[in-house]
Amino acid sequence: MATNQLMIMPLLLLIFLLHIASVASSYLQRGFYSNTCPEAEFIVRDVMKKALIREPRSVASVMRFQFHDCFVNGCDASMLLDDTPTMLGEKLALSNINSLRSFEVVDEVKEALEKACPGVVSCADIIIMASRDAVALTGGPYWEVRLGRLDSLTANQEDSNNIMPSPRANASALIDLFHKYNLSVKDLVALSGSHSIGQGRCFSIIFRLYNQSGTGKPDPAIDPEYRKVLNKLCPLDGDQEVTGNLDATPVVFDNQYFKDLVSGRGFLNSDQTLFTFPETRKFVKLYSRHQNEFFEAFVEGMLKMGDLQSGRPGEVRRNCRVVNARRTHLLLESPNIMENQHVAII
Ligand code: HEM
Repeated sequence: MATNQLMIMPLLLLIFLLHIASVASSYLQRGFYSNTCPEAEFIVRDVMKKALIREPRSVASVMRFQFHDCFVNGCDASMLLDDTPTMLGEKLALSNINSLRSFEVVDEVKEALEKACPGVVSCADIIIMASRDAVALTGGPYWEVRLGRLDSLTANQEDSNNIMPSPRANASALIDLFHKYNLSVKDLVALSGSHSIGQGRCFSIIFRLYNQSGTGKPDPAIDPEYRKVLNKLCPLDGDQEVTGNLDATPVVFDNQYFKDLVSGRGFLNSDQTLFTFPETRKFVKLYSRHQNEFFEAFVEGMLKMGDLQSGRPGEVRRNCRVVNARRTHLLLESPNIMENQHVAII
């Protein structure tokens, strides 16, 4: 690739990110399916409840989808698409491979919804509803979600590689990234509180245990006692697929995550860095003391993140893993969808 082409790629990406953050989301609304699929929200919650009972971690895994979906070309379920001979999907992108999991829970939700109201509820909306339910079912806040998204017609592995942050990221890189989506420092810290549930792999922390920033030493921000625990879980020559809890109460959505950061017990570098940096530290302290402040800010952040849209054409997929078979070239522009009118492309 020519040098000037290489230089222009990040600029184009930035312009597109800014576009995503600014596309009007006014067509999204509460109760979008109240006429076309009145049971939709109950059906999603029911499947999520069963998933929680079957495997508590699975609801955290599904909640993570909202972040990995919405940051890459808007909330359009692009990350749910399987690879095809002509398209490299996002499932194998750097931050997703061997990491995103519990896709089968979304399949189960979709199957139940297709039985109740075929071709009506988008996979992108399923991610939004299921994420909310994951939080509420594990003890966190409940909120009304805005619905009416369409599913993408394609996915983009390269965009996911370029956008999704590494667990090595420091607070200033994360602040910059979130800023591109009009998400504030407060949103960043509150949304990182999603790590109140779920687990991460040794692969994601091995560098900070043994060679932080190429120093050959561990991250000095880790509490020594906690480091002993992590060293045992993740020995240098051990299996990097082994997982550890992201906070001390990994199946309860609470502010324990922030308490852990204050005591140097953050699992990921990208978590602990929020306490190291002054700009983010004040929010970590606040949320560690006041769970209600955390919950309020978290809901606000999830709503803002859920509004990210690319404005590209879409459809309501019948199966979240594949785009619908094309019988017509008619494509819908997402922002032009009429209120309460959901037209699937067939
Ligand atoms: C701020 C930047 C973020 C970074 C760098 C980050 C990074 C990560 C990493 C590295 C893992 C563990 C993956 C593995 O080891 O396989 C993880 C797990 C997780 N992330 Fe994030 N994350 C961020 C923000 C978010 C946001 C905004 C959400 C949701 C709103 C989220 C939800 C989750 C959840 C629930 C898990 C646990 C998933 C499971 O147990 O399967 N993360 N994250």
